[in-house]
Amino acid sequence: MNKTPQAGFPALRLRRPRQSGWSRRLFAETNISPDDFIWAIVLKEGKGLREPIAAMPGVYRLSPDEAVKAAKQARDLGIPALALFPYTDTENRTPNGEEALNPDNLMCRAARAIKDAAPEVGLMADVALDPYTDHGHDGLLRNNEIINDETVDILVQQSIVQARAGFDIIAPSDMMDGRVGAIRAGLDSEGFQNIQIMAYAAKYASAFYGPYREAIGSSGVLKGDKRTYQMNPANSDEALREVALDLAEGADSVMVKPGLPYLDIVRQVKDAFGAPTFVFQVSGEYAMIKAASENGWLNGEMAMLESLTAFKRAGANGVITYFAAEAAMALNT
Ligand code: PBG
Repeated sequence: MNKTPQAGFPALRLRRPRQSGWSRRLFAETNISPDDFIWAIVLKEGKGLREPIAAMPGVYRLSPDEAVKAAKQARDLGIPALALFPYTDTENRTPNGEEALNPDNLMCRAARAIKDAAPEVGLMADVALDPYTDHGHDGLLRNNEIINDETVDILVQQSIVQARAGFDIIAPSDMMDGRVGAIRAGLDSEGFQNIQIMAYAAKYASAFYGPYREAIGSSGVLKGDKRTYQMNPANSDEALREVALDLAEGADSVMVKPGLPYLDIVRQVKDAFGAPTFVFQVSGEYAMIKAASENGWLNGEMAMLESLTAFKRAGANGVITYFAAEAAMALNT
């Protein structure tokens, strides 16, 4: 496409189409709608529980019955899917995270309850061991090392348990090598050919996950950091290699995470592969917008909608976000 303007100033005035609302709408290159959102939800044991998360004003840990209400709300707002993440207290965490394989764990019970009440809402499961390990890592920890291949075997089992509970999208967030192919084969061998995989393909070792770790009860327990498996924020060629590999292993869609600091990665991934590309607006991004808005330092609703628009402009097909319901309400009015 030739981007050279056909005319020059004064015949060409790029301000002309910006003069009124109807024209700005007509000239918009990108639109966001509730269809673009996957609503990130944090679960906790209990009944009727809505427990505030200090660093994420407006986000609550929800008991399964409250998560069911959220699913119905999502349906009514036109949000296609929810992504569930479990809070686990220290007593239920073990060195090898066995609770991940319990078919009656919090995630599975919530999934069954949601699928009963609102079957038309898509459900995405986070696959990784960090909510269940007593060291807070996504994989098995041995002699100070996260063991790749044995972790992958467990993640395959975890994925099958989640598929049986009714999850529609299996989303490995662990960053072990080879897990997408292994999970695909494992799901297929159990007859789950139609269960999707969304790979956290380019997932960076990021400080922006801070509030999430508090939300799921991992911040106090995490030993060290995740830099031997999550990506170095300095790298982008490597992101393309990660995405290429996950697509070759059978991922239906890929994700870039975090979001706003990594829009260049979103654009490169979309341009390089043309694959369904999602972006995770993570807890720290949510927290920043909320904190500034609660202090009156910026207009929270406008910043929220602007950030969501930026993801789509950068090439994302959709966004995993804690703002989903709030943004859908803002867009629906
Ligand atoms: C871990 C996982 C993380 C998030 C989703 N899955 C954090 C981490 O890697 O420590 C982050 C979500 C967020 O910050 O909102 N498997």
